[in-house]
Amino acid sequence: MRQTKLEDFLELERRIKEEVDKSREKDKILFQQAKLASLGEMLGNISHQWRQPLMEMNSIFLPIEAKIILGKKVKNSEILEAIEKLNIITKFMSDTIDDFRDFFSNDKEKIKFNLLEQINSIVNIISTGLKAHNIKLDILIKKNPNLFGYKNEFSQVLINLINNAKDELISRNIEDPYIKISIFEEDESVVVTVEDNAGGIKVNPIDTIFEPFFTYQKQNGSGIGLFMSKLIIEKNMEGKLKAYNKNSGAFFEIKIPKE
Ligand SMILES: Nc1ncnc2c1ncn2[C@@H]1O[C@H](COP(=O)(O)OP(=O)(O)OP(=O)(O)O)[C@@H](O)[C@H]1O
Ligand SMILES: [Mg+2]
Repeated sequence: MRQTKLEDFLELERRIKEEVDKSREKDKILFQQAKLASLGEMLGNISHQWRQPLMEMNSIFLPIEAKIILGKKVKNSEILEAIEKLNIITKFMSDTIDDFRDFFSNDKEKIKFNLLEQINSIVNIISTGLKAHNIKLDILIKKNPNLFGYKNEFSQVLINLINNAKDELISRNIEDPYIKISIFEEDESVVVTVEDNAGGIKVNPIDTIFEPFFTYQKQNGSGIGLFMSKLIIEKNMEGKLKAYNKNSGAFFEIKIPKE
């Protein structure tokens, strides 16, 4: 009798472990899917980001070319100046690609990273895409703390929140659209909030938006973005991610325990 009880117990334990492993595996696949989805969106941002510098590059040597065609003399200083401009532009383009690659590399370990630096590289990538839709991005910094955790996953969360806000601002045709990011500290935690003026989350209860595959009134929504964001913040960084509606729109709050 005792023997069977022990066996039953071991069998139960084995099955629990199996189910937990399966569910971890599922989360991993969802993560991968969500990354791929935002990859497409980010590529769109980069193509916006590169259009301007590509046009500039195109025009840098035009005056020199014209002079040569007209048989005029070209000064060395003119050529050097053009080369210098070219260097600045290609540096900018290559920085964008570096930021981009960083976001999609897998975090291997938790590290200490600076919040503002991370936000700046996100802004580098997404700002042109926002400008294209006249969306104002405000960043309010009261503190510039370091965080400890998975740096790129954390950026992924912010990108998800910003992209969601952008989607609603565009699809609801909001006048004077804006996204505001605030960074400050409370006693025990670092707080990052993302708010918009798109009119708010239209589902009830609000927390439904964190369920996997929950998407609402979106053409190409996969519904993984916020589910993944919550996993990253709450499981991987021991923090909290919450959503509210405020006066003019949605308000997301990330709290991460101080280092
Ligand atoms: N800032 C916001 N304002 C209003 N509704 C929002 C906002 N952010 C999210 N939502 C709602 O929450 C839903 C779930 O968001 P989530 O990011 O998980 O999925 P999605 O954006 O629909 O798809 P994707 O997986 O492509 O991100 C959205 O479909 C939208 O209805
Ligand atoms: Mg989304």
